[in-house]
Amino acid sequence: MKVMCIFGTRPEAIKMAPLIKAIEAAPELSSAVCVTGQHRSMLDQVLGFFDIKPDIDLDVMRPDQSLNGLMARLVTGIDEALADVRPDYVLVHGDTTTALSAALATFQRRIPLGHVEAGLRTYDLAQPWPEEMNRQLVDRMAHRLFAPTSRAAANLEAERLSGEILVTGNTVVDALLGTLARIDADADLRARLDRQFSFLDPARRLILVTGHRRENFGSGFEGICNALDDLADRDDVEIVYPVHLNPNVREPVFARLAGRANLHLVAPLDYVPFVALMRRASLILTDSGGIQEEAPTLGKPVLVMREVTERPEAVAAGTVQLVGTSPSRIIEQVNRLLDDAEAYGRFAGLPNPYGDGGASRRIVDALCGRVPAPFITLSASPAHPMDGGHFLPCRPSASLSAAGT
Ligand code: UD1
Ligand code: UDP
Repeated sequence: MKVMCIFGTRPEAIKMAPLIKAIEAAPELSSAVCVTGQHRSMLDQVLGFFDIKPDIDLDVMRPDQSLNGLMARLVTGIDEALADVRPDYVLVHGDTTTALSAALATFQRRIPLGHVEAGLRTYDLAQPWPEEMNRQLVDRMAHRLFAPTSRAAANLEAERLSGEILVTGNTVVDALLGTLARIDADADLRARLDRQFSFLDPARRLILVTGHRRENFGSGFEGICNALDDLADRDDVEIVYPVHLNPNVREPVFARLAGRANLHLVAPLDYVPFVALMRRASLILTDSGGIQEEAPTLGKPVLVMREVTERPEAVAAGTVQLVGTSPSRIIEQVNRLLDDAEAYGRFAGLPNPYGDGGASRRIVDALCGRVPAPFITLSASPAHPMDGGHFLPCRPSASLSAAGT
């Protein structure tokens, strides 16, 4: 069976990389990779690190692209790629414009679609925007729904979708564990990382920051910048903020925060240095989705600068806290973690509810028609019948049938 993975942004590439390697290693499957290039440099660095050579690169990115213009280029380009490659099965990831466009193009060619990281929900179409709508639409079109957690699976089940549901864990944990192992096995790499971050004073605690959500453009980013400006007054911290390349993020952040000695605004980091900084950080302040799923593996507290999250498992498990974008709340919670050892200690050592490193293997097993090993959810969230690693037979779609499945 020929399986085509279609993706285009940095987080999709990180989360699809271990799955592509697992597909390549499976004798029953042949692999085709189509990158859309929705992101350009942020995508290319991930492809290089994981040694992924795309069969097709649509190179759709434009500076400050509009969502509709992007989607038009994506649907047209992906449709041509599907016509050329003629895959038996297509996999997309998550909730980006690439994921929605690829799902639609695949559905309209009557090719079965698997959705990796299915079932995440806030049920608030404004947050995150437009991702909440994107993932709901992709899930409706999917033949198989690979849910990272039992809670995500329960969302899908309640929506009575036509795809089959499997709880797999999140492939981001596969990627992270592999990357940590590569760092630990390579003394030269560790020395290069030390040199790259030699500007950081080891006596000060590190706060790592990322932010890029569209619903935070404007007043949200103003609040985040005001909070960071205030926190930089502490003389016992270094703040590192790799600033996303979106001009709607870069311009206000550099205009407001450039020039503080202990607040380092840097270009987006390659994955390995970013993982090394997450490991070194005392705490992470972010509006990212993927970082909420990675940090628990590293035992790092994460303060999430959003009002709602589609990843409630880590909040329930106690490794993540929502702080929104109001400066007073961000400042209060950062100071509490830095100054109260007991509060800080409550974050460390908790299990990661998002994965155990075996998500890619489970997805490949399912594609090959094998019963995947169960993903035992390590969270405080209640057990779910699908935790046993079996597909829940929902209403199989009459019109879509996957070759070899
Ligand atoms: C996209 C996804 C978002 C995901 C985020 C991860 C959508 C609607 N949004 O948002 O879900 O969380 O990626 O980072 O799909 N740019 C570059 N070089 C790059 C990447 C981006 O210059 O390598 C700039 C370009 O000007 C581009 C802009 O950033 O037009 C926005 O990129 P885009 O992918 O449209 O949106 P993101 O905000 O990155
Ligand atoms: N990341 C990275 N370099 C950075 C910032 C983030 O490699 O400078 C990684 C991070 O480890 C995570 C992913 O990018 O795996 C998250 O991407 P992003 O925050 O852009 O998107 P989201 O997860 O919110 O969709």
